[in-house]
Amino acid sequence: MAVQHSISLQKLFKLTPSSNVRGQTVVITGSSSGIGEVAAIQLADKGAKVCLVARREDELLRVRNSIEKRGGSAFHYPADLTQPDSLNDVVDQILNDHERVDVLVNNAARSIRRPILEALNRLHDYERTMQINYIAAVNLTLRLLPHFLENGSGQVVNISTLSTQVPIPLFSAYLASKSALESFTRSLVAELGDRGIVGTVVYFPMVRTPMSSKTAIYKHMRMMGPEKAAGWIVKAIEEQPSRVSSPVGVFGSLLLSAAPGAAIEFTRPLFKRMDKKLADKLGGERR
Ligand SMILES: NC(=O)c1ccc[n+]([C@@H]2O[C@H](COP(=O)([O-])OP(=O)(O)OC[C@H]3O[C@@H](n4cnc5c(N)ncnc54)[C@H](OP(=O)(O)O)[C@@H]3O)[C@@H](O)[C@H]2O)c1
Repeated sequence: MAVQHSISLQKLFKLTPSSNVRGQTVVITGSSSGIGEVAAIQLADKGAKVCLVARREDELLRVRNSIEKRGGSAFHYPADLTQPDSLNDVVDQILNDHERVDVLVNNAARSIRRPILEALNRLHDYERTMQINYIAAVNLTLRLLPHFLENGSGQVVNISTLSTQVPIPLFSAYLASKSALESFTRSLVAELGDRGIVGTVVYFPMVRTPMSSKTAIYKHMRMMGPEKAAGWIVKAIEEQPSRVSSPVGVFGSLLLSAAPGAAIEFTRPLFKRMDKKLADKLGGERR
């Protein structure tokens, strides 16, 4: 699958140069597993100092050790990012340990696959996804922004999904939180792009990780590997585009902007058929 990098206006007018990862300090959340773990390894291999953030300290230590064994530089900061005190402590600690932070990758997330009609008494689905996928990412950004502005530069890479670019059913809580994050990124750049702040949204397709493995019917779905997905994060930092997306995602965004009603009507039966096909492959198991 080809990666498409749309060129940001900043880059187009050469207001911000592409950046070399070597020597940069990159804070990457959700780096105890999946895409975040592999991205941290790839960034450290290229000479970045990586600050690993997630809840499970033993897993962070495992990732840190494997980076150090490869000759890279890593630091680990256990934190539950949905707890403001925990998040504040970790930002203070990072700023205390490192003279300069260059990039924040908001990658930590949770996903919920549930029909809206099964969530009638589950407002907490919507609250929990917002808490980690949106509020925590915004909180980290707000805490690091003064530091970025003082340095004259800083990049925020926000991880989203192809599923906000096409009309996907069954993930309303997850997708709404990711769409909010995308909108926040646009505002960030609109307000502070001329003060050295770069915002990038990465729209991953399905990737084989612990997150996607929780949904049984996806067992037989073709997915991107975490190494390739992690490469998209590396590119986001090296090339500083406003968006890293697949061509399908770009086409989906165009279609949704131009004809949202028709796009949803057209894709609804396709998704129902796909779900049925995957469930049949799994022997009738639905989820
Ligand atoms: N996998 C896919 O198909 C797919 C597709 C599109 C987009 N994405 C996006 O890609 C990113 C990475 O996902 P993944 O598939 O690699 O998932 P993953 O393996 O489940 O990783 C999620 C990470 O988030 C961390 N995390 C969760 N809650 C946290 C909290 N309260 N505080 C701190 N850290 C927390 C987890 O660490 P702890 O449990 O140790 O806290 C873990 O490291 C996510 O933003 C996801 O939405 C994934």
